[in-house]
Amino acid sequence: MSMKIAVLPGDGIGPEITAQAVKVLQALSNAGLPLEMQEAPIGGAGYDVAGDPLPDATLRLARDADAVLLGAVGGPQYDGLPRPMRPEQGLLRIRKALNLFANLRPAQMYPELVGASTLRPDVVNGLDLMIVRELTGDVYFGQPRGIHINEQGEREGFNTMRYSESEVRRVAHIAFQIARKRQRRLCSVEKFNVLETSELWREVMLAVAQEYPDVQLSHMYVDNAAMQLVRNPRQFDVIVTGNLFGDILSDEASMLTGSIGMLGSASLDANSKGMYEPIHGSAPDIAGQDIANPLATILSAAMMLRYTFAQDAIAERIEAAVRKVIADGMRTADIYTDGCTRLGCAAMGDAVVAAL
Ligand code: IPM
Ligand code: MG
Repeated sequence: MSMKIAVLPGDGIGPEITAQAVKVLQALSNAGLPLEMQEAPIGGAGYDVAGDPLPDATLRLARDADAVLLGAVGGPQYDGLPRPMRPEQGLLRIRKALNLFANLRPAQMYPELVGASTLRPDVVNGLDLMIVRELTGDVYFGQPRGIHINEQGEREGFNTMRYSESEVRRVAHIAFQIARKRQRRLCSVEKFNVLETSELWREVMLAVAQEYPDVQLSHMYVDNAAMQLVRNPRQFDVIVTGNLFGDILSDEASMLTGSIGMLGSASLDANSKGMYEPIHGSAPDIAGQDIANPLATILSAAMMLRYTFAQDAIAERIEAAVRKVIADGMRTADIYTDGCTRLGCAAMGDAVVAAL
């Protein structure tokens, strides 16, 4: 049975970085892995061809596929569009439509890149944490929302933070199961001291914890978590948190490693169908120059093989190939330091294929 992958390159550097991940997948396919890949536009590219950041045909392709590989969306040329037409809406809608409620964002330090972090090596050396961000609820999707005229006759913007028990429970299970495969420490991050949403979140976490007596559960307020991440990030193994807090904390965590261009992510539904994308954005300022770092997208493809296709050995082969090119001193511009070999985006893709 073939493994069907929908490839959605998106905007900015999206097409060049996904092309490198596709190159790696193609090499595995040539060696016998039964992969079937098909491409479709999303984000600004979707708007350009179909007047919609998530064209029907793209959603259909993604629904029919076992997994989705996404580049990045967004660009300044789309900033003036009405909100429903903006590239980011394509991303939010596909997450919701495919029910991808569990977003896994690992932050791992490569020993050779310790110097690229803005934090001291003794703080970040050996860092290896996983953020599990809830992805289809919270203030991102909560109703009511809008901008209206309030009783004082003034314009007022409003959004609604809300989580149902079942939404918290399902992401809790994923987080506990991931913690089980790691150091068995799970930190649930919320704002229990202020928000009812967080009160319910914590109650459900405690209830689900009963089923995982082998995992140590702790709780932390989000402001403290933001501080602890830069003070002593190695205290964390797995963090589970809501959509908005997870958006913020995962950007912070990624930068601890000094290289947002190195980190992939997985967004999973209840049946391990997943969308895989680098955690960085579309970087329109460097698009089309062949200087972007494709490693985050290549590592996202590795996550795809692990989480959707249960091909752990092949996922590890890709990850080992990335470690080898880094160990051999090959660097794209974002992680370049003196004495290394500077490669463009496509050459980096070739280097990973060669190291496979
Ligand atoms: C992310 C991004 C998105 C989000 C944006 C582009 C809508 O920041 O994937 O973290 O906020 O979820
Ligand atoms: Mg974000």
